[in-house]
Amino acid sequence: MKNRRTVLVTGGCGFIGANFIHLLRNKYPDWRVINLDKLTYAGNLKNLQSISEDENYSFIRGDICDAATVNRIFSAEKIDTVIHFAAESHVDRSITGPADFVQTNIVGTFTLLEAARKFWIEGNSQVKEPCFLHVSTDEVYGSLGETGYFTETTPFDPRSPYSASKASSDHLVNAYFHTYGLPVRITNCSNNYGPYQFPEKLIPLVFNNSMKGKSLPVYGDGKNVRDWLYVKDHCQAIVEVVNKGRSGHCYNIGGNNEKQNIEVVNLICDTLDRKLGLPESGEPRRSQITFVKDRLGHDRRYAIDAAKIKEHLGWEPQVSFEQGIEKTVDWYLANQKWVAEIVDGSYEQYYEEMYSK
Ligand code: NAD
Ligand code: TYD
Repeated sequence: MKNRRTVLVTGGCGFIGANFIHLLRNKYPDWRVINLDKLTYAGNLKNLQSISEDENYSFIRGDICDAATVNRIFSAEKIDTVIHFAAESHVDRSITGPADFVQTNIVGTFTLLEAARKFWIEGNSQVKEPCFLHVSTDEVYGSLGETGYFTETTPFDPRSPYSASKASSDHLVNAYFHTYGLPVRITNCSNNYGPYQFPEKLIPLVFNNSMKGKSLPVYGDGKNVRDWLYVKDHCQAIVEVVNKGRSGHCYNIGGNNEKQNIEVVNLICDTLDRKLGLPESGEPRRSQITFVKDRLGHDRRYAIDAAKIKEHLGWEPQVSFEQGIEKTVDWYLANQKWVAEIVDGSYEQYYEEMYSK
């Protein structure tokens, strides 16, 4: 049996998947990585442009709901490890169009589980311990009041079509462990932020709007709380779960960074004022904040108790929120072309140029 893993990463062209693949290339350059991504609006091949020629990396454009494609990849590539990121991930989109969430998040996860079950149970894994790691969210646990934390035993209580679809997929993954003995692990993490995040999510949206002098929409009273996790801390946690986690276990991953949304928006504004000076209006960027109609069913507070992953695997977050925002703002300032191409849609042509010749 070999130690070198052959990893199927799904959704590797998205925000967390791309950060994860970069981390893996640096940490384990001899591991093979096959990135299966449909390139929806959220997938951007440019996120991985710098490693596109790497001999241990390959990209396949495809849908995780397509059983023939997924089965073919398992057999052809002899997959022994799955890191499953691919999903529809934006709560607001799940409110206006839930169908894609049911399809990709539930049917897609089922399709991957079936492929892994068939391939691994027939004894085809090349490593002693194959691993199916399902990346999920703290949103499956519902909404907290002023106090308390989500632990791995908090009952599921999803409230948006997004979180309901993720909770369904978590249940399916657990069922494959108990029924078929599939070696699965689940991670439930809090809100990520950092490089490559699509500018529909709060932090990059606020960055982009404030750079353009546009209003900064804060839903409701701005006092909803999220526990912010720097994406590179999250990716490191996933590596620990692959290497040291136990099959059938779920691990909560949080940043110990609870913030109200208004605090987050204020900090981004202040950071930009400090780095760039005041905008032409002469007003601090905070003056662009506009309180808008609240999101339907807006969960009030998420907060993770990450004691289990610390005790079992020795992982804890390294980056404070202030450090993480500093790094993130610097990244977005240095990569304004990346944001501009997303906003004007030209990033979508990159695949055609690169792969359709
Ligand atoms: P993202 O929206 O940035 O990226 C999703 C990726 O999946 C894209 O590259 C997209 O093209 C791909 N994809 C979508 N549907 C597909 C399909 N049917 N087949 C193949 N590829 C498909 O998402 P993200 O923020 O990187 O999140 C990754 C995972 O982490 C998701 O499962 C999400 O639920 C989970 N998660 C994210 C956060 C967060 O704060 N971003 C927090 C908790 C959990
Ligand atoms: P988001 O980044 O969409 O992540 P999630 O809904 O998965 O937590 O939103 C983070 C928080 O910011 C959430 O409480 C909703 C709020 N929000 C705004 O106030 N304004 C915005 O424009 C967006 C996109 C989000």
